[in-house]
Amino acid sequence: MPLQDAKFLETLRAHKRMIVYGTSFLMLITVIALLASVGADPCADCHESSGVLLGIIDDWESSEHADENVTCISCHGASASDPDAISHNGYTIAVVVTPEDCGQCHATEAQQFGQSLHSLGAVYYEYLFSAEKLPFLESQIEGGFIIVEGEEVIDAGTLRGCLSCHGTNMTGKTTEDFRVWPNNGIGRINPDGSRGSCSACHSRHTFSIEEARHPETCGQCHMGPDHPQIEIYMESKHGNIYAAEGESWNWGEDEWQAGVDFRTPTCAACHMSAASGVPVTHDVSSRLSWELESAISRHTDNTANSLGYSISDGTSWEVKRDRMKAVCEQCHSTTWVDNYYEQADIVVEIYNLKYTEAKAIVDELREDGLLTDESFDEPIEFKLYEMWHHEGRRARMGAFMMGPDYVQWHGFYEMLQDKIEIEHMADELRAQEQQDLKDAETATWLNALIGIVLLETIAMAGLLFAYVSQRKKSKE
Ligand code: HEC
Ligand code: HEC
Ligand code: HEC
Ligand code: HEC
Ligand code: HEC
Ligand code: HEC
Ligand code: HEC
Ligand code: HEC
Repeated sequence: MPLQDAKFLETLRAHKRMIVYGTSFLMLITVIALLASVGADPCADCHESSGVLLGIIDDWESSEHADENVTCISCHGASASDPDAISHNGYTIAVVVTPEDCGQCHATEAQQFGQSLHSLGAVYYEYLFSAEKLPFLESQIEGGFIIVEGEEVIDAGTLRGCLSCHGTNMTGKTTEDFRVWPNNGIGRINPDGSRGSCSACHSRHTFSIEEARHPETCGQCHMGPDHPQIEIYMESKHGNIYAAEGESWNWGEDEWQAGVDFRTPTCAACHMSAASGVPVTHDVSSRLSWELESAISRHTDNTANSLGYSISDGTSWEVKRDRMKAVCEQCHSTTWVDNYYEQADIVVEIYNLKYTEAKAIVDELREDGLLTDESFDEPIEFKLYEMWHHEGRRARMGAFMMGPDYVQWHGFYEMLQDKIEIEHMADELRAQEQQDLKDAETATWLNALIGIVLLETIAMAGLLFAYVSQRKKSKE
C-alpha cells in the first residue's frame, strides 16, 4: 500500500465522526428541501404569509386533494382567454371553479351530473318562471324590484331565495357582480357556459364524500312546503334508524356497502351510491320512474320534455325503476319492494285524478271570462297552484319515501280542503257573475225608466210652455 493512501485512510479514520455527521446533515437538508418542494404551493404560501384565507388552506390540507398534490392552481388556474379570468399577483386565475374544471380529472362524475335534472336547475327556473310570470309573483310575495347603485335589480327577492337553490345565470358576468355571486345553486349557469356547481354537495375545500352522503346535505334545498324530502326522510323508519345509530356507520369507505357500512339508506344511498348491479352515479334522475314534481305526474320517458333537453341517459322509465328496486333489494325481498311500488303508484294515480278535476273547474272559469289571463292575481289561482305544488307533491313524495303523515295530513287531507275551497270560490265567482248580470239588467231597466220620465217631463214642460205662451198671446 503506498504511503499517501495509508495516510489518507488514517485522516479519514481520524475524522470519521465528522464525516458521518456531515453527510447525515447534508442528507437531512436534502430531504427537508425535497419535502418542502412537494408541499410548496406559491398560492397557499402567499396566502398563509399574508394571513388571508387561512380557513380555506386548512380545509384543503385536510382533503384528499392535498394528499394527491391537487393544489390551488390545479383548480383555480385559468388561461387569459377564459371569460372569467383575472390577473392576480402574477398569476391568471378564475375564482369560479366549474364542473368543466373538475371534469378534467373527474370526467365521469361531470358527465353524469351534466345529464341530470340537477344541472338544469337554473335553466328550468328561467324557463318556467319567465319574464311575464316571475315579476308578478315576486312583486306579490318576494319583495319585488329594488334600485341599488342606480340600477334596477329585478330578482331582488329571489337572490337569497330561489336562486340560492337553483343557481344564478353568470353568462357574461363576473364575480364582481353581486347579482350573480356568491352563489352555489345546483344548476348555476357558469361564465364558461357549463352548468352546475359541484360544491353544492361537496363543500369546498374538503370536497368530502362523507358530507355528501349525509341527508342534511341534500336537505339544504330539499325541504319546505313544496318538496319536503328531508322532513319525510326524518319521519321514515329509514331516517329514524339513521338518527339512532348513524354516527357509528362507516361514511368514508370508497365502496359504500349496504348492510355492511350502513344499515338504512340515506338520500345518496338510494339516489346515487352503488348497489349490486347498479353502479354509483351523479345522475340523480337515472333511478326515477315518475315526474313527481310536475302538476300532472308522467313517467320519465324523456319524450314530453318541454325544454327540448333530454334528461338522464335516454333509458325507459321501467329501466330506471329497476335500478331503484335493485337498491331496495340489497336489504328487502322482491315481494316487499314490488308491493311497495304498487301502493305508491296508486297514490300518484289518485293524485292525478283529483288535481285534474280541480283544474277543470278553474279552466272553465277562465274560458267563461271570469278570470284574467294574468297569473297569480286572483286567490283561486293560488289555491290551484298550492294543490299541485305543495299538497300534491307532499302526498306523492311521502308515498315513495315512506312518510305516511305527508301522504295523508299534509297531503290528501289538505288537497280535499283545497278542492272544497276552489269549488266555493268558483260558486262565488259564478254567483257574482249572476248578480252582476242582474244588476246590469236592473240598471238598463232603470236607465230606460229614467229616460222615459225625462222625455215625458221635457214633453210636459214643452206643452206647458206652449200653453202658457198661447194664453199670453190670446190675452194680448
Ligand atoms: C403575493 C401574494 C399572493 C399570491 C402569490 C396569490 N394570492 Fe391569492 N390572494 C392574495 C390576497 C392578499 C388575497 C385577498 C384575500 C381577501 O380578499 O380577503 C387573495 C385572494 C384570492 C382569491 C379570492 C379572490 C376573490 O375575488 O374572491 C383567490 C381565489 C385566490 N387568491 C387564489 C389564488 C391562487 C389560485 C393563487 C396561485 C395561482 C394565488 N391566489 C396567489 C394574495 C396572493
Ligand atoms: C379541487 C378544486 C379546488 C382546489 C384544489 C382549491 N379550490 Fe378554491 N374553490 C373551489 C371551488 C369549487 C370554489 C367555489 C367556487 C364555485 O362555486 O365555483 C372555490 C372557491 C374559492 C374561493 C372563493 C370563496 C370564498 O370563500 O371566498 C377562494 C378564495 C379559494 N377558492 C381559494 C383557494 C385556495 C387558496 C386554494 C388552495 C389552498 C384553493 N382555493 C384550492 C375549488 C378548489
Ligand atoms: C388535477 C386533478 C383534479 C381536479 C382538477 C379535481 N380533482 Fe378531485 N380528486 C383528484 C384526485 C387525484 C383524487 C383522489 C383519487 C380519487 O378519488 O379519484 C380526487 C378526489 C376527489 C373526491 C373524493 C374525495 C374523498 O373523500 O374520497 C371528490 C369528492 C372530488 N375529488 C371532487 C372534486 C371536485 C368537486 C373538483 C372541482 C371543484 C375536483 N375534485 C377537482 C383530482 C382532481
Ligand atoms: C343546492 C341545492 C340542492 C342540493 C344541495 C341538492 N339538490 Fe337535488 N335538486 C335541487 C333542485 C333545484 C332540483 C330541481 C332541478 C330542476 O328542476 O331543474 C333538484 C332535483 C333533484 C331530484 C329530481 C331529479 C329529477 O329528475 O326529477 C333528485 C332525485 C335530487 N334532486 C336528489 C338530490 C340528492 C340525493 C341530493 C343530496 C345528495 C341533492 N339532490 C342535493 C337542488 C338541490
Ligand atoms: C330551498 C331551495 C329552493 C328554493 C328557495 C326554491 N326552489 Fe324551486 N326547487 C327546489 C327543489 C329541491 C326542486 C325539485 C323538487 C322535486 O323534484 O321534488 C325545485 C323545483 C322547482 C321547479 C320545477 C322544475 C321542474 O323540473 O319541473 C321550478 C320551476 C322551481 N323550482 C322554481 C322556483 C322558483 C321560481 C322559486 C322562487 C320563487 C324557487 N323555485 C325556490 C328548491 C328550491
Ligand atoms: C347532489 C350532490 C352531489 C353533487 C352536486 C356532486 N356530487 Fe360528487 N358525490 C356525491 C355523493 C353522495 C358521493 C358519494 C357516492 C357514493 O356513495 O359512493 C360523491 C362522490 C364523488 C366522488 C368520489 C368518486 C365517486 O364517483 O364516487 C367524486 C370524484 C365526485 N363526487 C366528484 C364530483 C364532481 C366533479 C361534481 C360536479 C360535477 C360532483 N361530484 C357533484 C354527491 C354529489
Ligand atoms: C329508500 C330510498 C330513498 C331514500 C332514502 C330517499 N329517496 Fe328520494 N325517492 C325514492 C323513490 C323510490 C322515489 C320515486 C322514484 C320513482 O319516481 O320511481 C324518490 C323520489 C325523489 C324525488 C322526486 C323526484 C321527482 O320526480 O320530482 C326527489 C327530489 C328525491 N326523491 C329526493 C330525495 C332526498 C333529498 C332524500 C333525502 C332527504 C331522499 N330522496 C331519500 C327513494 C328514496
Ligand atoms: C341499507 C338497507 C336498506 C335499503 C337499501 C332500503 N331499506 Fe327499507 N328498511 C331497511 C331497514 C333496516 C328497515 C327497518 C326494518 C324494521 O322496521 O324492522 C326498513 C324499513 C322499510 C319499510 C318499513 C317502514 C316502516 O314504517 O316500518 C319500508 C316500506 C321500506 N323499508 C321500503 C324500502 C324501499 C321501497 C326501498 C328502496 C326504494 C328501501 N326500503 C331501501 C333497510 C333498507
